[in-house]
Amino acid sequence: MSELVLVETADRIRTIRFNRPEKKNALTQDMYTAAAEALESADSDPSVRVSIITGAGGVFTAGNDIVDFTQRPPEFGKDEVPPVRRFMMALLKAEKPVIAAVDGLAIGIGVTLLLHCDLVVASNRSIFKTPFVDLALAPEFASSQLMPRFFGHAVAAELLLLGDTWDANRARETGLINRVTEPEQLDETARFMAAILAAKAPTSIKASKALMRQPAEDIEVRMDRENTIFASQLQSPEFAEAAAAFLERRAPDFDKLG
Ligand code: COA
Repeated sequence: MSELVLVETADRIRTIRFNRPEKKNALTQDMYTAAAEALESADSDPSVRVSIITGAGGVFTAGNDIVDFTQRPPEFGKDEVPPVRRFMMALLKAEKPVIAAVDGLAIGIGVTLLLHCDLVVASNRSIFKTPFVDLALAPEFASSQLMPRFFGHAVAAELLLLGDTWDANRARETGLINRVTEPEQLDETARFMAAILAAKAPTSIKASKALMRQPAEDIEVRMDRENTIFASQLQSPEFAEAAAAFLERRAPDFDKLG
């Protein structure tokens, strides 16, 4: 595992930390590969229920390493999957919830990846920017679809066309992030949120996440899709535990389930 991406698992929470502060955590191909492996293995590891993606040294990430971009530009559509695509696909396909904890700079893919996380907490000194047009590039990894859907077209254009810099309050107001904390409270807040998710019924969490990520469809089709899952959950050991806990007036324990 690359020391530029630190991965640890404790209390059912996997933390994936970009750790290249001297380069503002700019992401190289090796870092994408390490982060992708950590996310992929989280899904198959029963000791993990939630992942947190975060940075180090007061920086989330200044985006793709620009030197790497010029020397080894990713080639999409070839047999070999570029590491950046592998990482973003791991995030897109993650069955278990992913929380991003942002402190400081979130630039380029540092913002794009947030769109694919389930919850985002950021310190009050964070800034968010997607300077793709300023670099004569273009939006990436579905941000041109997700940003207008999440924020509305006009607000998305602030990031994707104007290349505006958002502070944490603007990011909170637009819905890019969920919570703003003091920098010292960031890790604790992210772990608190992760612990809440980790204690819930795992199959229910996965199903709910998958439904929320499912592309828009006919309402009746969606109702049927939800009903099928709902009915299946009603037969699950998780629901049996939840119902028993309710009747016995105790907290449910999903530790051994899922
Ligand atoms: N790729 C490669 N190296 C990067 C980088 C990136 N995306 N972002 C920062 N770095 C490097 C700098 O080259 C510098 O390296 P050096 O010390 O060897 O010269 C080091 O990180 C510190 O960055 P520096 O620019 O000195 O810090 P700063 O606080 O003045 O500015 C930024 C920080 C992030 C605002 C500025 O570095 C920047 O604009 N980076 C590019 C961000 C970007 O456009 N990302 C999108 C890529 S699609």
